[in-house]
Amino acid sequence: MTEIPEHLLKRSRAAKGKGDEGASSDSTAVTPAAAAASAAPAAAGPPAVAAAAAAIPADKPAPAPAPEPHYIEAAKARRRIPAWVLPLVGALPIWAIAFAGTMQQPEVEDPLFTGAEAIYAEAGCAGCHGGGGGGGVGYQLSDGNVWETFPDPVDQMVHIVRGSSAINGEAYGAERSDGQRVAGASGNNMPAFGELTMLELELVVFHERAVLSGEDTSSAAYQEWMEHLRELEEEGDETPVDFDLLLACANPDYTPGATGVGAPDEDHPCPGPHAEGEEVAAG
Ligand code: HEC
Repeated sequence: MTEIPEHLLKRSRAAKGKGDEGASSDSTAVTPAAAAASAAPAAAGPPAVAAAAAAIPADKPAPAPAPEPHYIEAAKARRRIPAWVLPLVGALPIWAIAFAGTMQQPEVEDPLFTGAEAIYAEAGCAGCHGGGGGGGVGYQLSDGNVWETFPDPVDQMVHIVRGSSAINGEAYGAERSDGQRVAGASGNNMPAFGELTMLELELVVFHERAVLSGEDTSSAAYQEWMEHLRELEEEGDETPVDFDLLLACANPDYTPGATGVGAPDEDHPCPGPHAEGEEVAAG
């Protein structure tokens, strides 16, 4: 028989002592091994726990805890992140998305851009030329197409106000890579938009050139024109289109019926991005 360690025996005795107090205890032939086995479940009761704890011999000192590595000590010594920071960390992605949204605001919020886009949609241009100017019943206006036909916005303004059936069969616009345009040659006609106000006409032209066709707007003259349109928008200007002024400002090479004499006076300047006092090149 193997020797039972003294502390186990003491534990089993303690357990037995407890068991003897119970009515159902069978105390006759408890082998030391069985006693040791029964000691474990018995230790669940509070008095037995105390007894077992007391029974652990003092000559077996608990092993000294191994010294912790310095990096664990450092980690414990470090100041913790306060719990209230966690919701903030969790909100970071939401903030990032919100911030990314603000990056586009300058263009979206600018009344010049929103107003111009609205007229392009409301006047029905988008229906025939596509929301992005990709073309449809009417020509493509995106990717530089609109200023390939009309190097100067004034000629484009005349074309929109007059439409193309009034000049059917006549050439208009500049010499493009695919030749000069001929009114009606596409098989359809561009309707006349004489009801637009001068501001609406300029806005829709700005939208087609700067936004859809990607025209360079960085020149001082272009920026001045944009600023001028913003001011008219703020004032709610409703000046009707002055078609004679447009014909005077347009280029006879590009616009049938244009006189090319330029603006009559300072109070009626040619629309579009012209440097102050600049004459429209007359062919
Ligand atoms: C009913 C369809 C229709 C609508 C609406 C329409 N267009 Fe057009 N547009 C055309 C057609 C068709 C042509 C080509 C006509 C031709 O062959 O002469 C054209 C031509 C043009 C051109 C000349 C492009 C080039 O390169 O020759 C411009 C600029 C233009 N449209 C601007 C506009 C604007 C601005 C509006 C809104 C105010 C508008 N269109 C509304 C059908 C339309």
